[in-house]
Amino acid sequence: MSRISTLNILKMKSDSSKFAMVTAYDYTSAQLADRAGIPVLLVGDSLGMVVMGHDSTIPVTIDDIIRHTQMVARGSQTSLIVSDLPFLTYQVSRSQALSNAARLIQEGGCQSVKLEGGEHIAESVQAIVQSGIPVMGHLGLTPQHLHTLGGFRTQGRTQASAQKLIDDALCLQQAGAYAIVLELVPLELAALITHRLNIPTIGIGAGPNCDGQVQVFHDLLGLFTDFTPKHAKQYAQLGKTTVDALTSFIAEVNLGAFPTEQNSSHMASSVLEQLS
Ligand code: KIV
Repeated sequence: MSRISTLNILKMKSDSSKFAMVTAYDYTSAQLADRAGIPVLLVGDSLGMVVMGHDSTIPVTIDDIIRHTQMVARGSQTSLIVSDLPFLTYQVSRSQALSNAARLIQEGGCQSVKLEGGEHIAESVQAIVQSGIPVMGHLGLTPQHLHTLGGFRTQGRTQASAQKLIDDALCLQQAGAYAIVLELVPLELAALITHRLNIPTIGIGAGPNCDGQVQVFHDLLGLFTDFTPKHAKQYAQLGKTTVDALTSFIAEVNLGAFPTEQNSSHMASSVLEQLS
């Protein structure tokens, strides 16, 4: 089966087919998501929090994202892989944005990049798209702006900020983005933006009317237990399952119940007898 492309994602909008996207940060998670049939994998800079243990995405570097994109690319055969351009790797200049987007594609092995922001990055989005690299936008709560937004809170509740989000979304579409993530946006505003755009919106905390939905792998599977965001739904409690499994392992080791004959191998007695 061939890899899903941005054209397939655009067609899902015109066919009114909703789609799922999930973050993936390594070979195993990418393999599992691919096997489940997730069409879009995001190597998100959220890895700074759920994998690296930072309290925001800001410390994540381009080399971190490249390394994790390589792992995901080795694990995934069919999903479209989108990688985040991390904090301050695209805001300095158009050429900085272009060369870092190129690194994610060439060294990482993804097929698309994601940038946070609207009108102020539109020129860079256009330059990246024109160079042949598909761009996904990201509006609403943009975690790389945590310090100016003052926390992880819903955006676009006032007329001015809602209008700015609509204008930013139209600007990104005009610049050539093929999809836009809407994070922590009131569902009414997300529905309005989704209706106004020809390209798909992908919501996280943006209600049911977006064209796609994205979740963080560790939230969805109950692996990240520092806090559970309101917009996340746990489809499994793998954190608890993991702790239970590790507790059983400890108990069996302590009791001498693991490993057994089944988990071991033998050597020829003729060789054994020759040992001093
Ligand atoms: O980094 C990330 O995981 C993201 C999603 C929350 C959309 O950007």
